[in-house]
Amino acid sequence: MAQQVQGVIARAKGEPVRIETITVPDPGPGEAVVKVQACGVCHTDLHYREGGINDDFPFLLGHEAAGVVQSVGEGVTEVAPGDFVILNWRAVCGQCRACLRGRPQYCFDTHNAKQKMTLADGTELSPALGIGAFAEKTLVAAGQCTKVDPEASPAAAGLLGCGVMAGIGAAINTGEVGRGDSVAVIGCGGVGNAAVVGARLAGAAKIIAVDIDDKKLRTAEGLGATHTVNSRTTDPVEAVRELTGGNGADVVIEAVGRPETYEQAFYARDLAGTVVLVGVPTPEMRIELPLLDVFGRGGALKSSWYGDCLPSRDFPMLIDLYRQGRLDLDAFVTETIALEDVEKAFERMHHGDVLRSVVMF
Ligand code: APR
Ligand code: ZN
Ligand code: ZN
Repeated sequence: MAQQVQGVIARAKGEPVRIETITVPDPGPGEAVVKVQACGVCHTDLHYREGGINDDFPFLLGHEAAGVVQSVGEGVTEVAPGDFVILNWRAVCGQCRACLRGRPQYCFDTHNAKQKMTLADGTELSPALGIGAFAEKTLVAAGQCTKVDPEASPAAAGLLGCGVMAGIGAAINTGEVGRGDSVAVIGCGGVGNAAVVGARLAGAAKIIAVDIDDKKLRTAEGLGATHTVNSRTTDPVEAVRELTGGNGADVVIEAVGRPETYEQAFYARDLAGTVVLVGVPTPEMRIELPLLDVFGRGGALKSSWYGDCLPSRDFPMLIDLYRQGRLDLDAFVTETIALEDVEKAFERMHHGDVLRSVVMF
């Protein structure tokens, strides 16, 4: 039977979000209903509310979540009721040209639940990133549920569903950071600090954190940065070069999403090094670089979408590292909040006070 639960809804552009009763249908073929235990507040939720993603209001926000599968629809074999799962927004299709070439982490045709969750009056909801987890229950495609060790804390595990995975993946998957590498991370919010952690996991010898906020730099140090640069007061390109024998870093990860920081990343990189753009730019942004420098400096300019993660490969592995004490996911949970507090959390995010606020159910 369809269930009625409370969820956080963005009704119109810029309007404060509010809690409303929503209807969650029973799972159909290939679908699952998940009882959400924790869901982090991500920038993308705010972008939805601001109308920055598309105009398909009303949105059911929340997409960085962990919970327990409550029921599954016909034909679902990958998860069963009772499984502890992290929700992902990369349920791969197995059929597209990326999947068929053995690169499912780039799947071009990921899927979500086919049925719609609705408001009490029947209005169809658009769930954020096809998830919609600021709700006690949510309906997703079974492939969006990735089973992990149930001993992990839901608040920490849920973070792998989006921002923290993006940062770790930018370092280990896209940047292919290796043992002994030098790495610079520009912008040390939730995503950049996760890149610091990823670089450390991968065995980087030098990890240079760059930010305009000393508070963020202190956090980066706590997570494994070996050097910090405040780019408000110090030229970050010169500083990174100085710290790397005059050469620049092997891998520079841009986790802000702005032209000026991208340019810093480009020039703070050693010859034949790699730039990874994981920060998300806005449509009007442009970069201008001497094409001769693009050519002459060699190497790779890459972007990282969701940390180029493959959830079925990366989530269980990272949760195992977390359980072994080798990956401090708890450090990213700045505060736990109630469902009613999402609007306040947006405010705190805006002021840069938190790595992550996490709604607990
Ligand atoms: N130079 C260096 N650091 C900067 C600059 C700048 N010009 N401008 C902002 N920052 C820093 C902020 O001080 C902050 O620490 O970048 C960090 C951004 O962090 P958050 O706002 O917490 O954002 P986060 O969740 O980490 O996401 C970063 O990745 O996924 C994308 O959409 C997301 O584009 C965003 C980026
Ligand atoms: Zn595919
Ligand atoms: Zn997100």
